[in-house]
Amino acid sequence: MKRKLEDIRREAISELNAAADTQSVEGVRIKYLGKKGALTAVLKQMGTLSDEERPVMGQLANEVREALTAALAKRQSELEAELLEARLASETLDVTIPGRRPPLGHKHPMTIALDELKDIFIGMGFAIADGPEIELASYNFTKLNTAEGHPAREWGDTFYMTEDSSVLLRTQTSPMQIRVMEEQTPPIRIIAPGRVYRKDEVDATHSPMFHQVEGLVVDKGITMADLKGTLNQFVEQLYGKGTKTRFRPHHFPFTEPSCEVDVLCHGCGGAGCRICKDEGWIELLGAGMVHPKVLSGCGIDTEVYSGFAFGIGVERMAMRRFDITDLRLIFENDMRFLAQF
Ligand code: DAH
Repeated sequence: MKRKLEDIRREAISELNAAADTQSVEGVRIKYLGKKGALTAVLKQMGTLSDEERPVMGQLANEVREALTAALAKRQSELEAELLEARLASETLDVTIPGRRPPLGHKHPMTIALDELKDIFIGMGFAIADGPEIELASYNFTKLNTAEGHPAREWGDTFYMTEDSSVLLRTQTSPMQIRVMEEQTPPIRIIAPGRVYRKDEVDATHSPMFHQVEGLVVDKGITMADLKGTLNQFVEQLYGKGTKTRFRPHHFPFTEPSCEVDVLCHGCGGAGCRICKDEGWIELLGAGMVHPKVLSGCGIDTEVYSGFAFGIGVERMAMRRFDITDLRLIFENDMRFLAQF
């Protein structure tokens, strides 16, 4: 019996050491200490021993049981610790790693340029008017003194929406002049920024869609001097004090007289360079005194009121402002380009 007890101790301990998980540990416990376990079986045989042997074997059996119980508990806690360790390692959360910042967007260069223009005119007391991009031909052309037969009205130049050419994608923001004059009574002082459309092939300086900012002032006693003063003030705010302008006679159907306004080239100061294509001047906008026919067509008494209007091409301005050499870049929305602004 003594040998048997010794064997049980040795085998149980070695099985415990080999146990790789807590389930195996439990298996060892049942195998030796369980109701039908090996040690239990030995203890049941105690009665068959002689009076001298029984206390000796009893003590040994107790020792073995205690040793086994202790070894079981030790292995169990060892395995639990290992398990915890493994879980901690796999679930590590390093709170010192900097968070992932969601990339923040910013304004498109066209929006920057438009906002700049709006700010300048708002500062001069202009209000902002908004109107449709799908426009009536009567507003886009006829009421702007551009009668049928005018070359600008040709199908090849304009995106008509209807067979009868009565509805189109506006080719200019100038129809906003009509909309505002029909709705408001002077004094009027508005700008109307927005998209316009023309049947142009895409290249480095042309796009079938681009932006204009229309301006309109109607009041008593408005003269060409107001036009020049306002636009000079605008140019100085845009390009800096003392920026030289040039007012060239031109023709627009809805203004009389009409002009185009150039600024002295910032690249060469007038000598001629790549930026101004050797002109020395850069064309900035079209303008003029609102034609009396246009005023009276909107119910405004030309004996009392007069006005001036202007139209700015925003892309050209933005290209110069940001030194962009190809108009297509503005609309392709390539992040490598846009991220530079
Ligand atoms: N609408 C003209 C264009 O697209 C620009 C323009 C010229 C607007 C003169 C005006 C103006 O208001 O007075 O070419």
